[in-house]
Amino acid sequence: MKDTTTTVMDRCDLLANISEESGLIVRPFGSQAMRETNDLVSGWMCGAGMSVRRDVIGNLIGRYEGTGDKTLVLGSHLDTVRDAGRYDGILGVMASITCVQQLHDQGERLPFAIEVVAFADEEGLRFGTTFLGSSVFAGAFDRKRLKLEDKNGITMEDAVRNFGGDPFALESCGRDADDLIGYFEVHIEQGPVLEELDLPVGVVTAIAGQSRVSASFTGKAGHAGTVPMESREDALCAAAELVLEVERAAKAETGSVGTVGEISALPGASNVVPGEAHVSLDLRHQDDETRVRLRDHLKARTREIAEVRGCEYEWQLRQETPAVPSNANLSALLARAVESDGLTVHQLPSGAGHDAAQLAALTPIAMLFVRCKEGISHNPAESITKEDVGIALDVMSRFLELVAGEAD
Ligand code: GLV
Ligand code: MN
Ligand code: MN
Repeated sequence: MKDTTTTVMDRCDLLANISEESGLIVRPFGSQAMRETNDLVSGWMCGAGMSVRRDVIGNLIGRYEGTGDKTLVLGSHLDTVRDAGRYDGILGVMASITCVQQLHDQGERLPFAIEVVAFADEEGLRFGTTFLGSSVFAGAFDRKRLKLEDKNGITMEDAVRNFGGDPFALESCGRDADDLIGYFEVHIEQGPVLEELDLPVGVVTAIAGQSRVSASFTGKAGHAGTVPMESREDALCAAAELVLEVERAAKAETGSVGTVGEISALPGASNVVPGEAHVSLDLRHQDDETRVRLRDHLKARTREIAEVRGCEYEWQLRQETPAVPSNANLSALLARAVESDGLTVHQLPSGAGHDAAQLAALTPIAMLFVRCKEGISHNPAESITKEDVGIALDVMSRFLELVAGEAD
């Protein structure tokens, strides 16, 4: 029989083959690849002794009963960015299932039930918004998001329906909090800190807040050979100025990060002055006030750039989430679990977003980071070691024992 760590690594490898594009890992919300992934993961949950259901958005929920009335939720996400690595989100789901598998194999019941949730959309690849799955689970979904469109003009409302969900139940079908002890997520660090400290795992103190924006400029399309440079209304030049302003302004605001990850120009021909340009903005900071100040500054600059270049502009705030601290009690138990494995406890904040940030509205949260090679993530070169995964599984099991001790 395979050891548990090998099972986790093998399953991450297996899921890496399920994609919308061959040769890359691409699993947006509501895709065929997500359906196939959910089918496979559902089977693994059943094999670990869990009863499995799908909720109204397509989150997969496996439940392993305990001896008492309370429930601890474990999980992470199964969707990916475009050309993703194989561990972001996936590791947390696979590790959680494996932990339950160990209990099941030993015929052990904890004093609380465990629910493993595989969230259907955390990355927001399709609609440019994050936490679709976990916001529904947490009862924090905003129905205004249903009107957002993907690149093919399909609304979120239709995408949810096509995936077998119920768009109008999203706002009202959050998980009841009454029986919940908390939510615990294992995730790769996606940054270089643990590797620099030579530590396999770390305890997360807080998750950065984020603003996601779509900005567009509309100028006048024209002939590249005849429209004089002085009289152009070039929408792409306006967008280019904004891109550099995002970089400049984020660098000027200590602790901020600002990214333009998507840019497009229309009509999109080498001999046509661009009449339209669209960019995405992703702004983050551990301090909400600083992030909002950066966001407002960039909105004002978008207006100024448009005015100077004779363009119209549109600024659509697609989503905003505040910074979220981890729960002190659960994190203290997690730190004890790390210590009892003979490891130094290192506490660190997360610049990346996580489903835990949404779950915090519902129940206390704690997170364990696992070291990843050179801090590389959102990149196919994402890499972790089997040894570190083994340590994370040990810490996770010990954490469950400690939570059980408190529940007794
Ligand atoms: C998710 O990975 C995010 O932080 O964008
Ligand atoms: Mn993730
Ligand atoms: Mn990610």
